[in-house]
Amino acid sequence: MTNDASPNASQDKRARLARRALLSATAAALVASKVGQSDSLAAHSASESLPDLPMGLSLDFAELEHGIDDTHHVADGYRADVLLRWGDPLFADAPAFDPGALSAQAQSKHFGYNNDFIAYFSLPLGSERANHGLLCVNHEYTNTDLMFADVGGGQPYKISNRRHMEVEMAAHGHSVVEVMRDSAGLWSFVQDSAYNRRLMASGPVMTLAGPAAGHDRLKTSADPTGRSVIGTFNNCAGGKTPWDTCLIAEENIHYYFAGDPRGGDETSNHLSMGLTQELRYAWSKFLDRFDVTKEPHEPNRYGWVVEYDPYDPNSVPKKRTALGRFKHEGATTALAKDGRVVVYSGDDQTYQYIYKFVSTRKYDPENRANNQDLLDEGTLHVARFEEDGRLQWLPLVWGNGPLTRRNGFHSQADVLIETRRAASFMGATPMDRPEDVKTNPVTGSVFVSLTKNPFRRQHRVDTANPRARNRGGHIIEMTPPGGEGANADHGADVFTWNVFLLAGDPSDVRYGASYHPGVTEHGWLTNPDNMAFDPQGRIWIATDGATDFDTADGIWASEVRGTARALTRYFFKCPIGAEMTGPAFTPDGETLFCSVQHPAQDNGSTYEKPATRWPDFKNGVPPRPSVVAITREGGGSIA
Ligand code: FEO
Ligand code: CA
Ligand code: CA
Repeated sequence: MTNDASPNASQDKRARLARRALLSATAAALVASKVGQSDSLAAHSASESLPDLPMGLSLDFAELEHGIDDTHHVADGYRADVLLRWGDPLFADAPAFDPGALSAQAQSKHFGYNNDFIAYFSLPLGSERANHGLLCVNHEYTNTDLMFADVGGGQPYKISNRRHMEVEMAAHGHSVVEVMRDSAGLWSFVQDSAYNRRLMASGPVMTLAGPAAGHDRLKTSADPTGRSVIGTFNNCAGGKTPWDTCLIAEENIHYYFAGDPRGGDETSNHLSMGLTQELRYAWSKFLDRFDVTKEPHEPNRYGWVVEYDPYDPNSVPKKRTALGRFKHEGATTALAKDGRVVVYSGDDQTYQYIYKFVSTRKYDPENRANNQDLLDEGTLHVARFEEDGRLQWLPLVWGNGPLTRRNGFHSQADVLIETRRAASFMGATPMDRPEDVKTNPVTGSVFVSLTKNPFRRQHRVDTANPRARNRGGHIIEMTPPGGEGANADHGADVFTWNVFLLAGDPSDVRYGASYHPGVTEHGWLTNPDNMAFDPQGRIWIATDGATDFDTADGIWASEVRGTARALTRYFFKCPIGAEMTGPAFTPDGETLFCSVQHPAQDNGSTYEKPATRWPDFKNGVPPRPSVVAITREGGGSIA
């Protein structure tokens, strides 16, 4: 979901089209200086054959071409099959999908809307099976005007009746679905699996755990304990723990609350999280808990990372308050050299921060039960990028430095509930909208995508956010000390960092984009968001925002080191209006799952006339956000 408006791109488009054919010399020089690569390699056109590709490039697929149409595309030699669609029945007693008769009851048994993060967990637990597992999928938000015939266009988040709201709430959250790959290589889901589960905005009841649990600021009239909360929503990305539980992040939680956030004790907290009087979702019209004038603490119970056990459909999800409260894009785990658990997370808003939690206790690989509450105790840190290439992780600990009563922090719970304010006091580096943070299993380094910041002014440019009016976004590589792979010490207080690429169209010098100079006219990307690494450590970058550049979002792949570093290549293209989210590989690297989110959004779409009816293309059936399984024709690793 886009957090902030982009400047109108139409003017830029005309100038850009005139220049698109050429990579400018200025852009190539920028690449050489920023990315640190030789500029001896000439730019390649998309029509060039594979033997001409630069040395060090192992990604042996023919690139797609930029452009937009009504369906998805994958590089030649691969297939991209729709596996799970909004409305697919997940349970034996679930009714068939009927877009003309949506109900909360049916939706609670169906695959949710706007699939985002995907995690693959092998079945059985503890195995590395790549053809049988659980897909754990977030459902971030709803395009209500494209779901219902009787919700007007132009007001995508405003609804008029309780049925709409109840369907919306059931379409949010998360799904657990058993999936299998047959001997022909095709994936399908198991409709009546005992593992299948829905987590929704309307439930189940979850536990608030960790240092802020039970604090007065988490208490409401419905929950005087401050420890029990209904459901989860706006689940963007997430992560997997080493003990095979699933983490799901709560991101843009402000959209769901209404009522004047000013005037009470929580005013600055609510304003900093983006709450306004404006009605976006209309849940507050029907449920008092979403009206902050009636329940000022309810927003404090969202904006956390939720952990649950996908292998136990009866497990109670827990919101891990020790990881802080902000607009969590995701939650990616790693290990410190001594076995403590690290969780990385970006806060997706312009000028917000990148965080790292380090547990107090160590991961126990021999006893899964011993790890279940590891994320309740530890130290949250925030990143400060130094100009000399060092990255300092600053601890957010009550009583430490400015995090005291004098500044309104009366306990660690206050530091965690208002993590953003604590991070600002500590001198963290304000970033260009942090999205995914992912660890590379081969190199041990950590990549963070910054999706964009068109509002950054020249006087606020710094070495980690080097462009004013950053429309394309960028990717930074953060390197822990200790060595490669498992030797990397993610628990260290000081890392180093460098810019991996500056995204955008390199044929337009105004964007200051910077890649390997061999990137083709189709190999550039814009607005990096989610990322995945394949078993060889190559990066697969999903984008959210290409519509502003009159092209489609999708997946681009690149080497991360060697002579072909940052030479991105276009692999998968979304249908019109869709954003690419959730890329996830099976353990063998033979399947890449991805989420096509909000097909047809914007582009003049209405329920009657959406820009595409992907993936069914049937009259009367609205566009359906869906999970796609990408495999190689004839079998084998992706690329
Ligand atoms: Fe939901 Fe940060 O994208
Ligand atoms: Ca995004
Ligand atoms: Ca995202």
